[in-house]
Amino acid sequence: MKKHILVVPGDGIGQEVTTVGKQVLEKIAAKFGHEFTYDEALIGHVAIEATGDPLPEETLVKMRASDAILFGAVGHIKYDNDPHAKVRPEQGLLKMRKELGLYANLRPIKLFDELLEASSIKPEILKGADILFFRELTGDVYFGKRERIEDGNTAYDTMIYSKYEVERIARKAFEAAMTRGKKLMSVDKANVLESSRLWRETVQAIAPEYPEVEVTHQFVDSAAMMLIKDPKQFDVVVTGNLFGDILTDEASQIAGSMGMLASASVGDSTGVYEPIHGSAHDIAGKGLANPMASVLSAALLLDISFGLKEEANAVIAAVDAVLKAGFRTGDIATKDTPKDMILGTDAIGAEILSRI
Ligand code: NAD
Ligand code: IPM
Ligand code: MN
Repeated sequence: MKKHILVVPGDGIGQEVTTVGKQVLEKIAAKFGHEFTYDEALIGHVAIEATGDPLPEETLVKMRASDAILFGAVGHIKYDNDPHAKVRPEQGLLKMRKELGLYANLRPIKLFDELLEASSIKPEILKGADILFFRELTGDVYFGKRERIEDGNTAYDTMIYSKYEVERIARKAFEAAMTRGKKLMSVDKANVLESSRLWRETVQAIAPEYPEVEVTHQFVDSAAMMLIKDPKQFDVVVTGNLFGDILTDEASQIAGSMGMLASASVGDSTGVYEPIHGSAHDIAGKGLANPMASVLSAALLLDISFGLKEEANAVIAAVDAVLKAGFRTGDIATKDTPKDMILGTDAIGAEILSRI
């Protein structure tokens, strides 16, 4: 198979982890006889530094021309601590999602058995947890009207959803539920928010099209509680942009670490495959980041954008084998992990590559 992949590392550990993600794609191509070509483009802080724009037109053109995008992360501490900065790395990420019509962000929460002890949640609560989140990605408070008023001393953001936006993400979630445990939880805050009442009414209206799927509606506050209390009861979850952002960082602890969570952003055109984590200022540039989220994002890329299931499974199996062999990065190590088994980004990347 011939495909063109754009690698967009972005900032901080985005650079480090996508290096490994790309090596994995190269290894898969060599092993399975595919011809993948690559290009690279700027986004985020590095793009602002180079061009003044967090998503330069050149990057967007390359994105549209590629078959899939392997994305790292954006963000720099200097903007995080400067609320007045007008141009910000995150604007590049949000504009990319909007421009490419990436309305569905799939975030699988899959616990590798070897990491049962790495989580702060009790192993018996966790074992067997397997959740697929559908986070709506191009609507909500992220893209609603916002403003500073009253001489800058008051601010508002607008949580806004239209029926068609809820319908298209809900359909994707129902369809995924049909291929899994046939359970779908829709998460909202319909006891307070009008946009959530529209969300709930829209999901309720679609439900009869999928009679085999058992649908529940949960308020976001109690869904957050249930995730930690009993993660095994979840199958597929569909929710809005903001709730999905928060709930999946929480759910990363079910998989042991943010460094394990991959995602696929899909919709109208080229799919983007990205870890759910950010640029991680605290460990950036130190070679300590766990690259598995990027590697597992590469697996999602192979599976979803290219339909290469066997290849995707080979990547997942290699990650599993590295964990079974006892290798860890710092974020998934426990007090019992021998020091010489705790590896940096490149070294654990090499262990993954050697098992493909
Ligand atoms: P973060 O995800 O970057 O880091 C949170 C914590 O998790 C940190 O302690 C970090 O060291 C750890 N962590 C994250 N990924 C890891 C990995 N692969 N291996 C080991 N440890 C890992 O979140 P944050 O600190 O809130 O944000 C930092 C910056 O990243 C901010 O500027 C934020 O806007 C940005 N951000 C970007 C994205 C994205 O590009 N998709 C996502 C989240 C945050
Ligand atoms: C994510 C991030 C982004 C989001 C930020 C950096 C804009 O947290 O990809 O989860 O909130 O969507
Ligand atoms: Mn997030």
